[in-house]
Amino acid sequence: MKVERLSPALGAVIHGLSLTDLTDSQVNELDQLLDHHGVLFFRDQQLEPGSLLRLAARFGKPTPYPFVQGLDDYPEVIEVIKEPEDRINFGGVWHSDTAYLDKPAMGALLYAVEVPETGGDTLFADASLAYQALSPGLQKLLSGLTAINTSDKAAISATRPGQPKRGLSAAHPVIRTHPRNGRKILFVDRAHTTHFSGWTIEESTPLLEQLFDVIERPEHGCRFHWTPGSLAFWDNRRCQHYPLNDYHGERRRMLRVSLAGELPV
Ligand code: SIN
Repeated sequence: MKVERLSPALGAVIHGLSLTDLTDSQVNELDQLLDHHGVLFFRDQQLEPGSLLRLAARFGKPTPYPFVQGLDDYPEVIEVIKEPEDRINFGGVWHSDTAYLDKPAMGALLYAVEVPETGGDTLFADASLAYQALSPGLQKLLSGLTAINTSDKAAISATRPGQPKRGLSAAHPVIRTHPRNGRKILFVDRAHTTHFSGWTIEESTPLLEQLFDVIERPEHGCRFHWTPGSLAFWDNRRCQHYPLNDYHGERRRMLRVSLAGELPV
């Protein structure tokens, strides 16, 4: 197995592995690499919904995605598709998955079946580096706050046209601690976080916007270019992501599995 870092901030491409026949020790090694790099990428894999689900189950508990009907035979596997005539791409705003649940997803696996000739890349950002970039004074202020995260914030609802609003929301610590490695993580995101608990939206917005900007700084992230058979596996506690919508007129089809998470603390 060869590890190629994608940026100084986060992300590594893992070469020399077939994901359909991992040994237990390879699973352990990948688990540690995920902890280290935040998001892992693989190329030239041959997966279908069943083998993707089996792969996901080696790393956590696959769980249905709240807003999308899963495949008939594999309810935990969803398709993320943008057709040539579509203008909107699924999840097309910086986000951490399912932050509106009491237990947001621990991670997700996304597999590319069909990709545009150019474009359709996904950006990832490390929200623990964003925490480290804040001044000690702001870190201290934020460490006492919780924030409300909702499924129906306009920014994210706009990326799910035709789907009913669900009114899901959850309060989470603004600074959470990674359960495995103790890293502090800035846990607010542009798609879901509306305000700090006990503050109004008007009071919260300027500071939240500033925090989103810090998370999304290019030097806190990496960019992955998809080819058919590529797979990304991200730690959703630490990483946020943003799929670019720059390929109108072409088709992009992905398979996706979310892994169940824990209560953020
Ligand atoms: C998502 O899971 O938010 C979509 C990511 C992508 O399509 O690249």
